[in-house]
Amino acid sequence: MKNNYQETHNTWNKIALLYEEHFMDLALYNDTYHQFCELLSKSNASILEIGCGPGNITRQLLALKPNLKILATDVSQNMVDLAQQNNPGITVQVLDCRDLEIFSEPFEGIVCGFTIPYLAKIDVSKLLANCAKLLTVDGILYLSFVIGNYEDSGFITGSSGDRTYFYYHDFQTIQQDIKLNNMVIIERSDKEYKKADGTLEIHTILMARKL
Ligand SMILES: C[S@@+](CC[C@H](N)C(=O)[O-])C[C@H]1O[C@@H](n2cnc3c(N)ncnc32)[C@H](O)[C@@H]1O
Repeated sequence: MKNNYQETHNTWNKIALLYEEHFMDLALYNDTYHQFCELLSKSNASILEIGCGPGNITRQLLALKPNLKILATDVSQNMVDLAQQNNPGITVQVLDCRDLEIFSEPFEGIVCGFTIPYLAKIDVSKLLANCAKLLTVDGILYLSFVIGNYEDSGFITGSSGDRTYFYYHDFQTIQQDIKLNNMVIIERSDKEYKKADGTLEIHTILMARKL
């Protein structure tokens, strides 16, 4: 698993600009960013973003709520650099989300957009437990992923020829982990996403509240 992660992380770092070109302005999920902002209790809520990529979600959130205090993190230095360029006012940090224990201060919101497709089941369980610990009571978690058979997970090769290990996750397991950690799902959206090869994939976005 260690080498799968290493190759995946290297690929993300290598294709950061390419990802920015394709996804910086994608509007498909905008309504869910709106929902997340509506669910936050404060206009200046503290937000931790996990796997921020080039800062595409952060940019949308700040357009809706300019006073959010966002700490955007990603395992890739190049992604974090782009996130900072695209959102000069935020704080960024290179961080593998398997190491969330380093934080002690609470957050009023956590955004984790399409990062768990790059985490094995055991690390997703750990991540959800850590998110619950870091969220304030009534804090909101935004989590997106692709539902599927975990056994179908494996390497996929992108247009650059580089590979990432892509994990499908089972909804029941995610739901169970959320519940186990004292959070409750309050919104679910399923979006049809057309992949480069023309096939459709369902992208699931959950919002959960810390009890
Ligand atoms: C599909 S992109 C999502 C970017 C952005 N959140 C979005 O929704 O468009 C996945 C991101 O997760 C990051 N990532 C993958 N594994 C990670 C890990 N273990 N810790 C932190 N970030 C990770 C990648 O570097 C990449 O920026």
